[in-house]
Amino acid sequence: MSLWSGRFSGVTAEAVKAFTESISFDSRLFRHDIMGSKAHVQMLAETGIIPAKCAKAINAGLDKIEKRIEKGDFTFSNGLEDIHMHIEDALIEAIGKDAGMIHSGRSRNDQVVLDMRLYLRDTIDSIMSGIKELQRQMVRLADANSDAVMPGYTHLQRAQPVLFAHHLLAYIEMFERDVGRFLDCRKRTNVMPLGSGALAGSTLPLDRKITARLLGFPQVSRNSMDAVADRDFECEFLAASAIFAMHISRLSEDIILWVSQEFNFISIDDAFCTGSSLMPHKKNPDIAELARGKTARIYGDLTSLLVLTKGLPLTYNRDLQEDKEPVFDAADTIHKILSVMPEMIASFKINRTAMEKAVQDPAMMTTDLAEQLVKEGMPFRTAHHRVGSLVKWCDKNSRKLDKISLEEMRISIPEAKMHHLQIFCPLASVSKRTATGATAPAQVKKQIRFWKKKLLCPSQRQFGV
Ligand code: ARG
Repeated sequence: MSLWSGRFSGVTAEAVKAFTESISFDSRLFRHDIMGSKAHVQMLAETGIIPAKCAKAINAGLDKIEKRIEKGDFTFSNGLEDIHMHIEDALIEAIGKDAGMIHSGRSRNDQVVLDMRLYLRDTIDSIMSGIKELQRQMVRLADANSDAVMPGYTHLQRAQPVLFAHHLLAYIEMFERDVGRFLDCRKRTNVMPLGSGALAGSTLPLDRKITARLLGFPQVSRNSMDAVADRDFECEFLAASAIFAMHISRLSEDIILWVSQEFNFISIDDAFCTGSSLMPHKKNPDIAELARGKTARIYGDLTSLLVLTKGLPLTYNRDLQEDKEPVFDAADTIHKILSVMPEMIASFKINRTAMEKAVQDPAMMTTDLAEQLVKEGMPFRTAHHRVGSLVKWCDKNSRKLDKISLEEMRISIPEAKMHHLQIFCPLASVSKRTATGATAPAQVKKQIRFWKKKLLCPSQRQFGV
């Protein structure tokens, strides 16, 4: 018998049950569904809407159902549409007619939003912890290699020397903003929708504050129609996920380049690589490639939800059942990425010789030469032009910038002096970049100290939610 059998004379066709079910993907919400039901029932008892005795029996029944589901001793089937109906049905079976009191003042429309909010709150917390762990491994790597110099790139062309640690710290900054975005989205997720009913609220004297308190929500939703209709908190979660995945994907791309024979800046432990079934010599950075690849589906998840919700009139429409899979998929994908990335990064061996060799290219220090001329009074545009002519002259005459004589330099830069010949040292180049946020070792050390304190000191580990 279905929950709406009072209104219907006929039975639902099997194909319709298969088409409309969500149990195949929302069964994972069982803990949150039960948690929400228990709070709702307690509120119903505290406000005198249902007898305390019945609430007790319902709670005990729900506990048993939860244990059964955890043990795998529970059958999910298309016969019952979703997790809410499965649990209510099992409760009726367990305690009889009183179970029906559980749905007083509640609709599946507000129940399902509650479940998703509870689920996302937990999910966001575990994602934030995962990102922190990733940052911790990166700051450790930066700290252990704080003086390694490498080429910094623009347009994937060698541009200027930077510290390897500076490059890593750039990602730590990005991940910090990702945590901020998740935290921000958590605030708007952390609102209690129950009591909104199907769309207009309830005629029963519900005390929504009690439910909110029991579930740890700092506030209740102000508008029942908004509460059941909108999924913007999920959109925000997916947007934050997509941006985080974009950062992961860029980091992955850097890693893939660094392990290539062309760069050879790092090697990854065997445990985090795979070989080729055909080419015996291959050791591939599959984790980074898959993390880059999985970013695509997270973008897809965000797009799905935005398209899903864009044309829906208020309030609840069944289309909204389709919100879950994108949210679950993005959350699962991020958890998978975070289950391997930090350890893989911890396994990196840095090839300082290859980095040092790559950074010897004197062309990367031409900006330093131009800026030195600026320090000595030359307008920057003139300096840029002269140094550019010098590069052209070296190219044409197959000469290396750091091997020319003063006379040769003076062909392009008449103002050149002996000390200008000494400018082509990568370590000196990074050391001169002392402005806040620049790559000088002293600046980078300061940043490493800041991140170590923030990420590695136990007292600083809270998110302050
Ligand atoms: N399975 C539904 C969903 O995920 C639950 C809400 C159903 N509400 C309804 N009025 N049919 O959205």
